[in-house]
Amino acid sequence: MRIREPENGAERQAFIENLPRSVVLKLGPCSDRAILLGAWHEGTLIGRLAATPASNDSEAYMLLFLLGKNPAAQSLMERTPDLRPDPAKVQNGLLAELETRVRALGYRKLVMQPVFRVGTDQASLLLGSLREQEWHEIRYKATRFHIGGYGLLRERWFAAPLPPGYEFFFWRDLTAEDRGYLASRKNAPGFLDPFTIKDFEPETSLGLRNTSTGRVAGWFVNEPFDEFTVRFGRLYLFPEERSKACFYPLISQSVRYAWQHFERAVLAVAADNPRMRAALNRMLGRHCSMIVDSYYCEKVLNVSGDRTGC
Ligand SMILES: CC(C)(COP(=O)(O)OP(=O)(O)OC[C@H]1O[C@@H](n2cnc3c(N)ncnc32)[C@H](O)[C@@H]1OP(=O)(O)O)[C@@H](O)C(=O)NCCC(=O)NCCS
Repeated sequence: MRIREPENGAERQAFIENLPRSVVLKLGPCSDRAILLGAWHEGTLIGRLAATPASNDSEAYMLLFLLGKNPAAQSLMERTPDLRPDPAKVQNGLLAELETRVRALGYRKLVMQPVFRVGTDQASLLLGSLREQEWHEIRYKATRFHIGGYGLLRERWFAAPLPPGYEFFFWRDLTAEDRGYLASRKNAPGFLDPFTIKDFEPETSLGLRNTSTGRVAGWFVNEPFDEFTVRFGRLYLFPEERSKACFYPLISQSVRYAWQHFERAVLAVAADNPRMRAALNRMLGRHCSMIVDSYYCEKVLNVSGDRTGC
């Protein structure tokens, strides 16, 4: 196995074109400063890696893509079983070469934020390579559910009615008085704060009102994700409004609106909320085209010297 960069402009262009579209977009303005490495075995490309200076941290180099197991490697294995390129070995070789190059450029950190489909061996293979290469931090961050289809609307929990004493309103109709009330009390943590979203999705974002007090009891405030997808976002009930059977109706009402305007929805749960993850898995799991876990991984390189950011 030989690890090297694409040898000429045409090979480099082909290498980039064969990366997933999301990676090509991320390479974007830094593509001329990207490190592209391929692992070749007897003329066949069996592993690939792409990395670029991180746009939000001038100290860091961001590993965007690493694959040591692909159709080419598979077919090579079938053709020459005795050679068997071990995917872990390919990834380790690529990572070691990347580290050498990034150190030489004077960067202090290697960072990767991989996303894995739940139920595949992608995570164990890649995280295993990072551990073997002594990456310092490997942290599970969140799980994202990709929801679609109308089957969801037939779930039993979906039919639960909103209990008496509560009503929904569109978040876009939040009044000045509501705003004053929300400003006057301790609000949700930042990642559930509806006011930290710049452009919330107006057709699906709901508030919940306690009709006896007239106060906002909670919200489910969402964002556009792409043309066909809404990102279900900030779900929060004030502590005194919990366990009052509003949770399921709040979600189902927002889904009803969502399915009038979008084909799909995504919903992420942070790593520190395993109870909610389990509940959503039970409620939505069967209606997901994909469930993915996201991670943050970092290796500190202890180098001295200067370099310039992206
Ligand atoms: C999550 C929340 C909206 C649920 O409303 P609720 O009225 O407390 O919910 P219910 O009592 O009807 O329980 C419904 C499900 O919500 C989840 N839940 C309840 N309390 C929860 C809590 N404190 N934290 C996380 N999940 C909780 C549980 O999975 C529960 O199902 P289960 O009892 O079968 O495990 C509310 O507890 C809340 O605002 N929590 C803090 C913010 C939060 O965790 N938001 C979700 C981010 S994805």
